[in-house]
Amino acid sequence: MKQIKIGVFGCNRGGDYFRSLLANNADIVAVCDKDDFWLNKAKKRLGDGVAYYASFDEFIEHPMDAVLLANYFNEHAPFAIRCLEKGIHVLSECTAAGTMAECVQLVRAAEKSKAKYMLCENYPFMKFNREIKRICDSGTLGKILYAEGEYNHPVASSDVAFMRKYKPYAEHWRNYLPRTYYITHSMAPIMYATGANPIRVTALPVFAPFDDSMAISGSHCGDRAAIITTLNDDDSVFKVSGCAGFGAHGNSYRVCGTEGQIENLRGMGTQVMLRYNKWSKPAEMESNNLYDPKWNHKDEALIEKEGHGGGDFLVIQEFLNCILEDKKPPFDVYFATRMSAVAILAHRSLLELGMPYDIPDFRKEEDRVKWESDFLTPFYGPNGEAPTLRCSSHADFTPPEGPMKAYLEAIKTRE
Ligand SMILES: NC(=O)c1ccc[n+]([C@@H]2O[C@H](COP(=O)([O-])OP(=O)(O)OC[C@H]3O[C@@H](n4cnc5c(N)ncnc54)[C@H](O)[C@@H]3O)[C@@H](O)[C@H]2O)c1
Repeated sequence: MKQIKIGVFGCNRGGDYFRSLLANNADIVAVCDKDDFWLNKAKKRLGDGVAYYASFDEFIEHPMDAVLLANYFNEHAPFAIRCLEKGIHVLSECTAAGTMAECVQLVRAAEKSKAKYMLCENYPFMKFNREIKRICDSGTLGKILYAEGEYNHPVASSDVAFMRKYKPYAEHWRNYLPRTYYITHSMAPIMYATGANPIRVTALPVFAPFDDSMAISGSHCGDRAAIITTLNDDDSVFKVSGCAGFGAHGNSYRVCGTEGQIENLRGMGTQVMLRYNKWSKPAEMESNNLYDPKWNHKDEALIEKEGHGGGDFLVIQEFLNCILEDKKPPFDVYFATRMSAVAILAHRSLLELGMPYDIPDFRKEEDRVKWESDFLTPFYGPNGEAPTLRCSSHADFTPPEGPMKAYLEAIKTRE
């Protein structure tokens, strides 16, 4: 089988994928990171025979079939567009685009290109999420009416190693991340399982800044979570969390239909609970079915070794198969930009304490025109441009002095 020549752009998260790429028979031909710290780590792992670049302009000239984009969260779209314009397939880390205008630009570029675009969204491929999709597809839940997705990633306010690895400088995107923006891990699994597409969104903030004088925090967002609801194109409703930071760490999903429901169990590994009503249960099932689903996949042993519950391995495999078999990617540019639009407009909703926003259909030119000039962003730009939108729900919030001072001290060292 043809080996796909792939380049990796951004070697922190990008480096997490090296093993999955190689295990799926991809040929890593080039990597790029402007930060020596990460480029040197990549060199140590991949050795000679791979080209190393600090500049994207040089990297993109390297002969390759595909690029994995793992650069800054809010800067994927411009680089994806440059790859698509050169006919290079794109697997982009989340989020697809950091502004509404970039969503439009990305869709237009993907439509013009012969290359494929896929969002590198790994959570739908976790074991329990594959099972939730399998049960939805079986039809035994009836018509799907409602689903929940929660991605909960609290970080200890004393975790210096996290700050150094994931927020290495003060203007880093993670310090300006509104709680709604990192939405793909909570929303993609339920969009994929149910096939429903959000068309209207509303969101509320959970404001609770780190104000403990012993805390270490560089965040300009005082919110711990955003509670987001969407109305979908099949009349179903989703409730998702974006990236929350409350309670105990973990991610959980629940889908309810007219005849039954399925959910993974918080804190219980990969177990799922599938429940039906007495009158609606399939003959071979109990009303309550608690079980650990099976992979039913030829590469089970390899999947289990990889990150995010095997999702990292499977998302790479899916992308490579889409190229090799000339298939439409499951998380194509419309799926991906719809999620980015929900994330962005949920934040606008939250700033107005729940004002609803319609989610554009980027297949339609009239919806594109409406948003094509909207570059509002809560993040610093690539050339140090200041944010044009606040990231915190409370307009008067400024990061407490003690935690910020401790953070700035902590990031003077790298690990
Ligand atoms: N799917 C997942 O489970 C998962 C997990 C972690 C991170 N991510 C995503 O991966 C992406 C990267 O996050 P991260 O954790 O690696 O942190 P990060 O954003 O700090 O790292 C980005 C890396 O890209 C490099 N880079 C950025 N712009 C560049 C440019 N113009 N030229 C050369 N190099 C450049 C930086 O030097 C840095 O090493 C984000 O989008 C994040 O959301 C996804």
